[in-house]
Amino acid sequence: PTRIILDTDLSMGAGADVDDGFALALAHADPDIKLDLITTVNGNTDVESATILTGVLLNRLGINDVPLIQGSATPIIHTDLKRTPASHVLKLKESARPRTLGYAPVAIVEHILTNPGDITLVAIGPLTNVAIALLLDPRIKSAIKELVIMGGLFFGTMYSRDKPGEFNVFSDPEAARAVLRSGIPQRWIGLDCTLKVRLTMEDAEDLKQSPSSFASFAGDASATYIKHQAVRFPGRPKMTSVPMHDPLAVAVVSRPDLCEYKDMAVSVITGNGEARGVLIADRLETPSPPTPNCRVAVSVDAEAFRSHFLSLIKTL
Ligand code: BDR
Ligand code: CA
Repeated sequence: PTRIILDTDLSMGAGADVDDGFALALAHADPDIKLDLITTVNGNTDVESATILTGVLLNRLGINDVPLIQGSATPIIHTDLKRTPASHVLKLKESARPRTLGYAPVAIVEHILTNPGDITLVAIGPLTNVAIALLLDPRIKSAIKELVIMGGLFFGTMYSRDKPGEFNVFSDPEAARAVLRSGIPQRWIGLDCTLKVRLTMEDAEDLKQSPSSFASFAGDASATYIKHQAVRFPGRPKMTSVPMHDPLAVAVVSRPDLCEYKDMAVSVITGNGEARGVLIADRLETPSPPTPNCRVAVSVDAEAFRSHFLSLIKTL
C-alpha cells in the first residue's frame, strides 16, 4: 500500500461540509492506502475545531493507532485570518480522540525525512502546513514520494459568484505559491474534476440506514448539509447532491487511472485585488512553453469513482 500523510481542514457535522470526513474514511477503507499520520489546518473551520472533529471521526472509525497532530491556526501571511470555531464542536469535544502533541509542519518534515521516497502527502485543505514544512526543511522536496492536492480551478475562474477561484487556494494563496514553486512532484485535483463526482441525497439516505457507525453518521451529516445549502443560498437552483472534492484526491492515490492528467505551468495570483487566489494555468500549447511545474487532472471517470468510493465506504 501507498503510505500517506493526510492534511485536512475537516469540519464534518451539524450542517458543515462533509467531504474531508469522507476522504479520511476512504483512506482508511482502501486496502491500497496506509494512513501513517493525520494533520489538521485552518480552513473550513479553525484548526482547533478541525482537530476535535477529526478526533471524533477517528473514534467512530475505530482508528486508534494513527497520530493526529494539529497544524497552523492561520494562513502564512495573513495571520489575522483565523477561522471561527465550528458551532457544534463544544458538544462533541468529549467524544474526540485526544491529539498527539506536536506541530503538524514539524511532524510532516520528520515523517518524510525518516522515510525517504516512501511518503505521499495528500493535502485536502489550504496548503499552509505544506508551505511551512517546505520552509522548515527543504530537504523534504527530494525525500517526498508525491504531493497530491485537492485544490484549484484550472479551466476558468468562476465557481462561486462570491469569490473567484477555489477555496483551498484562495484561503492561502502564498502557501499555494510556495508549493507550486517548490519543484516537488505534485498532482492537482481541482474543481474541474471534483464537481463532477457527487454524493446524492439518495446515497446519503442509503448510508443513513447502514449498520456501520461511520456510514450512518456520514449519511446523516450529508443529508443535513445538502438541505442546509438550500437554506443558505435560497436564490440558487436547489442542491440535490454534494461534491466529493477531497475523496477524489484520496481515490487517485491508489487509482490514478480515475483521472486523465496534463502537465502544466501553473502560478497563482497573490496580489490583494479581486483575483487573489486565482490560478493562471499555462497548458503548454504555445511554441516555446514554460517548464511545467505540476500535473493537473483534466478529466474524471465519475462512474468509476462512484463505484470505487461507495463500495469501500460501505465496508466500514
Ligand atoms: C475544497 O474546499 C473545501 O470546502 C472542501 O473540503 C475542499 O477541500 C473545495 O474547494
Ligand atoms: Ca477540505
